[in-house]
Amino acid sequence: MLKGKTVILGVCGGIAAYKAAALCSKLTQAGAQVHVIMTASAAKLVQPLTFQALSKNHVVVDTFDEHDPAVITHVDMADSADLVIIAPATANMLAKLAYGLADDMLSTTMLVTRAPILVAPAMNVHMYDHPTVQTNMATLVSRGVYFIDAAVGQLACGYVGKGRMAEPEQIVDVASRLLEQLQDRPLAGKRVLVTAGGTVERIDPVRYLTNDSSGKMGFAVAEAARDLGAEVTLVAGRTTGSVPAGVELIPVQSAQDMLEAVLERLDGTDIVVKAAAVADYRPEVQADRKIKKTEEALTLRLVKNPDILMEVGKRKKGQFVVGFAAETDHLEENAIGKLERKNCDLLVANDVTAEGAGFGTDTNIITIYGPDGFKMPLPLCTKREAADRLLRLIADRLDGAGIGQAQGVPGGESGGGRMP
Ligand code: PMT
Repeated sequence: MLKGKTVILGVCGGIAAYKAAALCSKLTQAGAQVHVIMTASAAKLVQPLTFQALSKNHVVVDTFDEHDPAVITHVDMADSADLVIIAPATANMLAKLAYGLADDMLSTTMLVTRAPILVAPAMNVHMYDHPTVQTNMATLVSRGVYFIDAAVGQLACGYVGKGRMAEPEQIVDVASRLLEQLQDRPLAGKRVLVTAGGTVERIDPVRYLTNDSSGKMGFAVAEAARDLGAEVTLVAGRTTGSVPAGVELIPVQSAQDMLEAVLERLDGTDIVVKAAAVADYRPEVQADRKIKKTEEALTLRLVKNPDILMEVGKRKKGQFVVGFAAETDHLEENAIGKLERKNCDLLVANDVTAEGAGFGTDTNIITIYGPDGFKMPLPLCTKREAADRLLRLIADRLDGAGIGQAQGVPGGESGGGRMP
């Protein structure tokens, strides 16, 4: 994957800078064109000439080292990169990247580049654990930056703990897999709207009706869509799972809120996936004060909620609409009924009574139905795997319908996370 690719290798001033020389050599041997940017501190630890000899390219330390009058070096380097690797990344550089500082060649170039960025941090164990460093890394992950975790071991400062830069071989392997993953983007250029979680229907300020949805299925769909290149908006009710990075989150409470959030965005959306468990009913009256206990029984009158999926099915103008059905019996019959009534392009049915399926689990057992008699059962697998299969099926169907060939190049704004 690295053959013929242009890689910027950013080297910061940590003692692991010596390992960056081996990394530079391995990247070059793998066929990449490596352009090294060093910070001034890195250049105190290892000579730029070392990297020049290994990469056969001029090494830049100073932002104003403009050796080619035809270009502005940091913009030219940023634009030409297929991938940026920062190894070692110091706590200082992570903070600069998180806050958008541009006071040296590397941080300045990072603000310009649209290439994916892979970061291999290295520092003292306490520094690595410091809440500021952890927050900066989380910020960068949420913006689509990829990380290779530091390893545990003997550190140059004398401590034994987490903070060692990943080995050069591992970084090369991860970089190669990342490029492969980023090329597989059949939903690039598509906007996907996913709903997740359960709605909350208020009875009074302290009580509500909801359901067991954790949001995990919807989150998995959002994550899979993001990794396949889509721009993802996630409309989420009550959830317990962790929200995927790199997606736009719209938190909502009630079915009415979810309806408004979805319809507001429908026109700008290519694919709608409704994995949320929407309450069919809500209390007719929402008390604005806590309902007091009396000696009498209490009757709660429920009225019907709007059916969001049905509304989307009626209004869709070219959007690809996918519904979910949580069933406890007559799975196929009910699922096909919902597919037709709600005018869906696909419907994903799960038998929520089956072990490992439905609410709250990390796994699911689904069957995907289509209007043309299409039926695709998927055995027990993780919700993430099920979501990936569903999204790839959607991408195939969009292609088949000639609605639009997925295209585009990966940017650094989606995705992000820790690379295994
Ligand atoms: O969130 P998890 O814990 O991971 O659990 C996943 C899940 C079981 C919630 C998920 O896999 C699932 O099945 N979601 C749909 C649950 C549901 O509401 O099913 P339903 O059969 O009641 O509704 C059918 C479809 O209509 C769904 O797409 C639902 O979002 C939609 N609907 C339903 C009612 C309503 N008023 N408005 C709707 O849009």
